[in-house]
Amino acid sequence: MPPPEPTSPAFADDLAANHFDIAGADLLVGGIPVRELAARYGTPLFIYDGGVIRRSYRTLAETLSGFARIHYSIKANPAAAVIRLLYEEGAGVEIASLGEYRAARAAGVKPGDILFAGPAKGARELETVVSGGIGEIHLESFEEIARLTAIAARLNATIPVSIRVNPVASAQGGAMRMGGKPAPFGFDEETIGEVISKVQSAPGLDLRGVHLFAGTQILDEAVLLAQWRHGIDVAGRVAAIAGHPLKTIDLGGGLGIPYFAGDGQLDLAKLSAGLPGLRQQLKSDPLLADARIVVEPGRFLAGPAGIYVAGINAAKVSRGTRFLITDGGMHHHLAASGNLGQIIKRDYPIVAPARMNATGRFPATIVGPLCTPLDTLARKAEMPDLGAGDLIAVLQSGAYGRTASPVGFLSHPLPTEILIESGKIEVIHLEQDSQAGARH
Ligand SMILES: Cc1ncc(COP(=O)(O)O)c(C=O)c1O
Repeated sequence: MPPPEPTSPAFADDLAANHFDIAGADLLVGGIPVRELAARYGTPLFIYDGGVIRRSYRTLAETLSGFARIHYSIKANPAAAVIRLLYEEGAGVEIASLGEYRAARAAGVKPGDILFAGPAKGARELETVVSGGIGEIHLESFEEIARLTAIAARLNATIPVSIRVNPVASAQGGAMRMGGKPAPFGFDEETIGEVISKVQSAPGLDLRGVHLFAGTQILDEAVLLAQWRHGIDVAGRVAAIAGHPLKTIDLGGGLGIPYFAGDGQLDLAKLSAGLPGLRQQLKSDPLLADARIVVEPGRFLAGPAGIYVAGINAAKVSRGTRFLITDGGMHHHLAASGNLGQIIKRDYPIVAPARMNATGRFPATIVGPLCTPLDTLARKAEMPDLGAGDLIAVLQSGAYGRTASPVGFLSHPLPTEILIESGKIEVIHLEQDSQAGARH
């Protein structure tokens, strides 16, 4: 195995300075030093900056203005405070389970603003969601078509549905491909004729449109635009076969954010420059001209706003390698440990939030408390001279953090989670066992 590449402290420092404030030694989130928050709430601690979430939303909404409505994919971060904030900004939501439906409703989202995708929607969750009201259900299997047909008959309801299409390979791009190959998500593009006729012959199902989602963590706007163009092509074919105009075309999420030195930012100006062509493509087909276009990002909206703060419990040197052993790890932040689908494990950007002005840097391997070498947050981080009682903060941690992690593994406490906006703190989850504030 090749040796790990050292992290770039400049990349992490730049990201911290881009999203948050730095005052002397302190990283400030929402105007409050992380050091103070760790002392007050203990560690491990997820901190989300509401102002940064709003900024990401507004920048994207402005880019897509006149083209698409944003639905926040709440799997990225289902905290009520985050959903509420984005809903307040004007986003709809996209969900993938009954649990997420309940989270969205509890956060105040109206049923008509919720889209429901996911490859294994069960009879009970479908019936609960239909009874409670839903904007659209995205069909992904013939079993779902049969289940919904039965539910529509039982409830005497008309259920708004779209067909999720697994696009052909030529439309691919991004870090984790979820379509264009054999996949459990949606129906293969080659088979949509059969699916449309099944849906149209099902009483009680109202075929409104199509949904595509081909991959996540896309940093190249040309790839996104190509996928969207292909999505509109597919929508045109669905509308022609169905013989009526479509009401919705959901082009999916997948907008990426930089995690590693060398990752660029998605260029929204270039994305915007590609949209008139797509609008023209829509306008030229009378069956698509009035369709509502949806984009459903998760990571792009929530990711940059979050940091994961852990306290160092021990520092030791083993055979020449310096280890910093923290109270946080892969059980809260699987993605940062490199175990959430990454082929090459690379270090997330990490800073010392109470030592931002330290000049000397030393290589360190940062590990969590679990009894497995998989629980490694950084293999070769360039950090200040840290020891027990110091803090580290993993940046770009607002999406796919706690929600995508095996929190039960080794029965450590859950992380506390807070959202801060302009100095006002909202506690999402307060973990009593992590009230170790006095240590810092
Ligand atoms: C159907 C669907 N929509 C949206 C998303 C959100 O993706 P991202 O966070 O990359 O924008 C996902 C992620 O897996 C998804 O499966």
